[in-house]
Amino acid sequence: MLEGRQLGAYALRQPLGQGGMARVYLATDVRLGRDVAVKVLDERLAAQAGFRERFLREARVAAALDHPHIVPLYDVGDYPFLYLVMPYVTGGSVQHALKRAPMAPDEVVTYATQVADALGYAHRRGVVHRDVKPANMLIHGDGRVLLSDFGLAKIWVGTGVPAPRHRRPDAGTPEYMAPEQVGGQSDARSDLYALGVVVYLLLTGRLPFTGPTSESVMAAQIGQQPLAPGLLNPRISAPVEAVVLRALAKSPDDRFQSASEMGAALLAAVAAGDIGMAGPISGGGPLSPTSALMRRSLPPPRSSSSGP
Ligand SMILES: Nc1ncnc2c1ncn2[C@@H]1O[C@H](COP(=O)(O)OP(=O)(O)OP(=O)(O)O)[C@@H](O)[C@H]1O
Ligand SMILES: [Mg+2]
Repeated sequence: MLEGRQLGAYALRQPLGQGGMARVYLATDVRLGRDVAVKVLDERLAAQAGFRERFLREARVAAALDHPHIVPLYDVGDYPFLYLVMPYVTGGSVQHALKRAPMAPDEVVTYATQVADALGYAHRRGVVHRDVKPANMLIHGDGRVLLSDFGLAKIWVGTGVPAPRHRRPDAGTPEYMAPEQVGGQSDARSDLYALGVVVYLLLTGRLPFTGPTSESVMAAQIGQQPLAPGLLNPRISAPVEAVVLRALAKSPDDRFQSASEMGAALLAAVAAGDIGMAGPISGGGPLSPTSALMRRSLPPPRSSSSGP
């Protein structure tokens, strides 16, 4: 624990959280007199040949990203530890907000379209995130979602430092890892798959693929079909369900091909779903027979709550 220590201009005050390869501290920038978050990398990483150079190279890539839904990089340092300095984001992460799952589709889509915007912006610049998950989505004081940790998943791969179990074989947490990432491949569409997992989780309160070990979760990513989200939460409309299932397609070619396409599909699905809830038309899109059956057996959501 480094609280009480100063790294460069940053006086570390208290730990905010711990991940697989770093600890994040609330700190004061003593020159500017403002709160910041300082992410200090595991010491074993800095000791790896070439790691420092890769870290600084990726930091430059991350620093060039300027978007309302991406956590900006303020500074980096390499003495006596490698660290990154970013704004202190006060609202916790979407991981914390999971306590409220299943969330209303409108709220989920608001978060997801903001993340899709950020991903689209990065992808157009050739930057793939590779570790899209609720812990890397921070909630700003004004309610916006900010995607953090661009570039960090990439530098972890190939360090030779024994990776935490959950990071093998490629970066990315197995629950959010696209099938091709399990085999060590990833592109922009792998990020969209991970966003699909997050949306599924927020809408249903459950991960689509789980298991007792990292290996079993990764095997499920490759070989198991997700349970239709409408079966877990009947308030999920057929169009929204169709978008989620498309995002989770095993083959990248069957998914949304760009973040903007996925964002637009989510917005359209929520709009179509609302119309479906209010009237007899229930929207289009592929629907599994069981979830259609289950939906038919439920009373229309608004008729039960509206009194005389
Ligand atoms: N800029 C920030 N402002 C406030 N809290 C932050 C900030 N960055 C990270 N945190 C908190 O610190 C925790 C740890 O972050 P870290 O990125 O090290 O790990 P992680 O994303 O949970 O896991 P992984 O090691 O797989 O990336 C986060 O979950 C978050 O709660
Ligand atoms: Mg993180």
